[in-house]
Amino acid sequence: MAMIAYKCPQCRVTVVDINEDKIAAWNSQVLPIYEPGLDEIVRKIRGKNLFFSTDIEKGIRENDIIFVSVNTPTKTFGVGAGMAADLQYIEKTARQIRKFSQSSKIIVEKSTLPVRTAETIERILNAANKGVRFDILSNPEFLAEGTAIRDLENPDRVLIGSRETQSGLKARKALVELYAQWVPKERIVASNIWSSELAKLVSNAFLAQRISSINAVSALCEKTEADIKEVSRIVGMDSRIGPKFLNAGIGFGGSCFKKDILNLVYLCQYYGLEEVADYWEAVIKINEYQQNRFIRNMIGAMFNTLAGKRICIFGFAFKADTGDTRESPAIYIAKWLLEENAAVVITDPKALKNAKLDLAEIDGGNILFIEDHYKAAKGCHAIAVMTDWSSYQKLDYQKIYKSMEKPAFIFDGRNILDHKRCFEIGFNVYSIGKPPMVHF
Ligand code: UGA
Repeated sequence: MAMIAYKCPQCRVTVVDINEDKIAAWNSQVLPIYEPGLDEIVRKIRGKNLFFSTDIEKGIRENDIIFVSVNTPTKTFGVGAGMAADLQYIEKTARQIRKFSQSSKIIVEKSTLPVRTAETIERILNAANKGVRFDILSNPEFLAEGTAIRDLENPDRVLIGSRETQSGLKARKALVELYAQWVPKERIVASNIWSSELAKLVSNAFLAQRISSINAVSALCEKTEADIKEVSRIVGMDSRIGPKFLNAGIGFGGSCFKKDILNLVYLCQYYGLEEVADYWEAVIKINEYQQNRFIRNMIGAMFNTLAGKRICIFGFAFKADTGDTRESPAIYIAKWLLEENAAVVITDPKALKNAKLDLAEIDGGNILFIEDHYKAAKGCHAIAVMTDWSSYQKLDYQKIYKSMEKPAFIFDGRNILDHKRCFEIGFNVYSIGKPPMVHF
């Protein structure tokens, strides 16, 4: 919404939320999320044509286009628990829009939703027959965290799905015109509304599938002395495959991939497509397998016991350049380490606040959170790299090595460090999909 306000100065954008603390933070000097470049944009336009408010009624009443961006977590109860999307917030929002609207509106699905949700929204909105027209569009978001501003300024595509009726096409045109103020027209793709809803889920499923594919191959590399970096470079040079999203690692995290694939699996099951559901579910199974393998490798390398050892986790965010830790592999790894009776020291440039919340329930006094990497690693038996922060490549590993217990280990879950150099310093180095470099 900040980008729309920034690029369309003639539009007035109001972001409303029931969460007063969040809105207060968006109105303050410290925004509630870290995203490179976002602060500057918000600072430039806040109070001019970008507003944050908790007045939902007014927000609905006064605006012509409403982007519904509420969360759609995985259902934790009842039918479809653990798989289906929980649509209660979408439905509540649709009911609120119906209640407070006094004029016709375009309703845009921004949240990632199961295919055919627009139908539900349409039925709820039109149930009261207030003489007010609602046109529903699907406009899923493809930005990735950490690169959100770049992705929004220069998107691969903007997708707008609509009903192919006269008024549906008119609503579609209005949204196309909004984006066309900065996105080249050939990158604004129009489709039918169901294709749009499904294409979002499938895009994420394909991205996650690439990661699981390369991670599956990394296990085979470790058995055969092939090197996953070389394999992925060679495979990615085929222009039909392409080089992106082929970095093997500890597995994908983030609020979207797992949730969206589970949702896709559930949809396939719902429509009786068991084989298709199993195919996509395997993407998640390999992701869990990769984390499991990482811990087993760690235990094996460190003489089959981690009890009483101190392990430093480098990075808690699910990826670099964000403070977001949702579904971060680091959460699972930290929990496993604690179950093995290891002591855990966590360091991260932006995610310590969230890390504390994630581990609050299991913190029995065996977890330390230390911002300074050197202090965090001091006295540890091993470092486990969980996030691909580029700053980790620039640290003085000689200094770190000196301060650690010996033999000292590095488990590079992101394959970002200079392994040869670390080995020469004295570390025993274990990475993903490469032969280990061990001193004895
Ligand atoms: C993802 C998609 O990339 C976006 O296109 C989409 O809009 C977004 O989900 C969403 O649906 O909201 P995001 O989760 O922010 O974006 O981040 P990604 O860059 O996709 O990374 C996801 C995870 O995969 C991270 O844990 C990352 O470290 C991991 N990853 C990524 C790998 O392990 N290997 C790779 O080669 C690439």
